[in-house]
Amino acid sequence: MTEDAGRFRLRQVAFFGRTLDEYLEMFALDLGALRGRRVLDVASGPGSFVAECLARGLDVTGCDPQYARDADAIVAQGRADVDACREQIRRNPESLQYADIDAFYRAKHVALDRFSADFRSRGGEGRYVTGCLPALPFADRAFDLVLSANLLMIYAPLADGGMHDGFDFDLDFHLRAVTELARVARHEVRIPGMHTWGRMPVSHPYCEPMMAQFENAGYTVELVASRYDDGASILNPASNRILVATRSAPAPRADGGTAPATVGVDR
Ligand SMILES: C[S@@+](CC[C@H](N)C(=O)[O-])C[C@H]1O[C@@H](n2cnc3c(N)ncnc32)[C@H](O)[C@@H]1O
Repeated sequence: MTEDAGRFRLRQVAFFGRTLDEYLEMFALDLGALRGRRVLDVASGPGSFVAECLARGLDVTGCDPQYARDADAIVAQGRADVDACREQIRRNPESLQYADIDAFYRAKHVALDRFSADFRSRGGEGRYVTGCLPALPFADRAFDLVLSANLLMIYAPLADGGMHDGFDFDLDFHLRAVTELARVARHEVRIPGMHTWGRMPVSHPYCEPMMAQFENAGYTVELVASRYDDGASILNPASNRILVATRSAPAPRADGGTAPATVGVDR
């Protein structure tokens, strides 16, 4: 991570996670909206959404490329990335602004500790699946609700309003990712943070093409307000919106709901 004239410039995707409470705020959901649904969190990272939901009897799976690594390595990376991010925010106070930065970082450590305990204890049980957009190891329509936060939009190239110092996550990647998220969802997909990252966040240039891609896949799309303080919402509250894509008529799961959701996964 480096800085440039008050702007974040990320060389690689940070392994950085959030708590269940933060997820509910970020995705504008409540626990009732998760109950009775098979939920997938893509780019789940070292967050505690999966662990906290499983502890409440909810049916949630996380997916992330880093889950292929051993627990000690990814927890160490999670701690290093939280510390590095804190230092960058301290040096660039105008680039991201939070109402309570200390509370923000406390929540990151809570999330990492809960993730670490759950990830270690579950081992190969299958709730932490190694997988990578734009090709996920799941059957068509395997999940009722698919969530994905803080990979899409934020890791777009700098020139396109993202923070990434590279072109891995360009518009073509985003459109392929949308097609994949639409494929594994039976009913609904939610993606927060549909804004650029800078001193004046505005609607992200990928937002409209992504909405059109969902519509082509048979979804109805709307943008709804997020309740989460993501560091940009103080700068422009109106920009802090979630893309919510809903199938017009929820399709049955391809497997009739009986087969496991995962296909050929190693965790
Ligand atoms: C900043 S973290 C976000 C974690 C969590 N979703 C949150 O909002 O707190 C981004 C995550 O994306 C994962 N990631 C990187 N490339 C990916 C890809 N191609 N497909 C899926 N996840 C990816 C990283 O390993 C990392 O855990």
